[in-house]
Amino acid sequence: MKSLFAMTAACLALATSAPVLAQDAGPDFTDPALVARGAVVANAGDCAACHRAVETHGAPYVGGYKIASPLGDIVAPNITPSKSAGIGGWSFADFDNAMRKGKRPDGANLYPAMPYTDYQGISTADMQALYAYFMHGVKPVDTKAAETHLPFPFGIRMLMGPWNWLFTSDKPFKATANLSPEAQRGQYLVETLGHCGSCHTPRNMLMAEKPSEALGGADLSGWHAPNITSDPISGIGGWSQADLVAYLRDGRAPGKGIAAGGMAEAVEHSLQHLPEADLVAIAAYLKASQPIRDPRDTRPAFGWTETRPVKLAAYEPGNGATEASYSDSSTTDGAFLYDGACASCHGMDGKGTKDHFYPPLVGSVTTGAVNPANLVMTILGGVDRESGVGHAFMPAFANQMTDEQIAAVANHVLQRFGRPDTLVTKDMVATARAGGGKPLLLKIMPWLMGLAAAVFAALSFFAIRRGQRRAARRTA
Ligand code: HEC
Ligand code: HEC
Ligand code: HEC
Repeated sequence: MKSLFAMTAACLALATSAPVLAQDAGPDFTDPALVARGAVVANAGDCAACHRAVETHGAPYVGGYKIASPLGDIVAPNITPSKSAGIGGWSFADFDNAMRKGKRPDGANLYPAMPYTDYQGISTADMQALYAYFMHGVKPVDTKAAETHLPFPFGIRMLMGPWNWLFTSDKPFKATANLSPEAQRGQYLVETLGHCGSCHTPRNMLMAEKPSEALGGADLSGWHAPNITSDPISGIGGWSQADLVAYLRDGRAPGKGIAAGGMAEAVEHSLQHLPEADLVAIAAYLKASQPIRDPRDTRPAFGWTETRPVKLAAYEPGNGATEASYSDSSTTDGAFLYDGACASCHGMDGKGTKDHFYPPLVGSVTTGAVNPANLVMTILGGVDRESGVGHAFMPAFANQMTDEQIAAVANHVLQRFGRPDTLVTKDMVATARAGGGKPLLLKIMPWLMGLAAAVFAALSFFAIRRGQRRAARRTA
């Protein structure tokens, strides 16, 4: 209904002014310059990270890749210009509507795993370039991606209607007034195409981003996307602009940390391909963003730079080592596990190699954070990231160690090299292995299933109230 109103308004505008009509006919979507610009916009939009093939070397944008959501896997569809399997039959208006409103031409609602609440603010010029690229710059592939099946009641796409009503808006992107033009460009990239908030901003009970805590840090399938506001203790205020640009471009910033998990994907598929000026703009915006402080933080996560001695592992010479203790693979002695599995790369002293090819675990954001999620996930899943500076690879230990062993080696690393009051339990490792803590919405799902209808009614009620309030404001 909101869009109906907008359409009516647009038609009125068209009817009353001829020059606008000429502009609204849209650009020539086959124009090679526009298509080329669209490729750059698609990089900034990170479309390839999700709409990739399941197999590593499949054609770009054929989809099939599964995005883990707390409610189940959501499959990214084929968005090549294939008429049978992709979006080849879509008009610009269809595309625009899916990108901003999460609405498909057949009327079905998309799930917000597609970050349309962030893409909503993309400029018209960028949206046109994107459309030109997907229609005329991408090779059509006629293979349909698998369908998404979420458990009842979330499988009912109609339920997303009220959600979309509440959490999408018609407002164009508006930069904060007192920022430099560079930081404003950064804000545009962060808040729209870069959809940084879709990972870094905490969500409310209905899984919508909380605007008041923008970029304040959020849990994400076992990982924690850290606070990247300008706060010098809890956020990135202590990172230099050069640190931030290096991190976004290469996936590593010496003396700060490295990008694994979803951040490695953002670097690999999107950020490393951006023009340097855009990375500088993003860094400028992060450094000017509204700071958010976690009272548990006493120094920045990279500020735990001292190493602490611990008791030598029992197997070390002179400590009663026996032949059996050397070959005991069931040990839960963190020092023993560290020396055997980690020290060859990260060093006995945790200082890594001089060139940071093997990074230090002392003074790193991963070992100095109050939340050990990324330490646990890095040990479980390793690191596998391609960027301009080469292939960063650390083996995954998920199948080599039990939950108890991973907790033990993580605690050894924390005690010795990181923030010593952070503790990892074996239950935390088990939860991380299973894909992270579930948000409240899923914990209460059995209850919610019975009351799905009631929730639906309540949402509709609020949506109507919101509509009425808006209408009242408009007439006032
Ligand atoms: C974080 C992952 C993610 C990113 C990034 C992403 N998408 Fe999507 N997209 C999805 C998922 C998942 C769906 C399907 C959602 C559903 O089934 O409801 C989707 C659906 C779509 C659709 C609807 C297709 C259809 O057949 O229904 C279009 C069009 C689309 N995306 C375009 C894009 C473009 C263009 C970009 C980059 C600017 C992009 N997406 C970036 C995950 C993503
Ligand atoms: C798919 C989810 C995802 C997206 C999208 C994403 N991030 Fe991240 N980000 C993460 C995760 C997870 C980490 C932690 C990585 C690690 O420790 O290995 C992270 C780490 C970071 C860090 C390091 C902060 C620290 O203290 O360790 C910065 C800076 C950052 N992201 C900036 C951005 C910016 C800017 C964008 C948007 C252009 C963005 N991220 C988009 C998930 C994401
Ligand atoms: C074969 C070498 C190798 C081994 C063995 C290894 N790592 Fe790593 N580790 C790496 C590399 C390479 C990186 C990522 C470097 C990059 O991204 O540029 C890394 C990254 C890390 C990080 C992230 C550091 C940061 O600053 O964010 C942590 C934490 C870590 N490793 C812990 C461990 C632990 C604990 C073990 C043992 C259980 C271990 N590693 C074993 C090579 C190794």
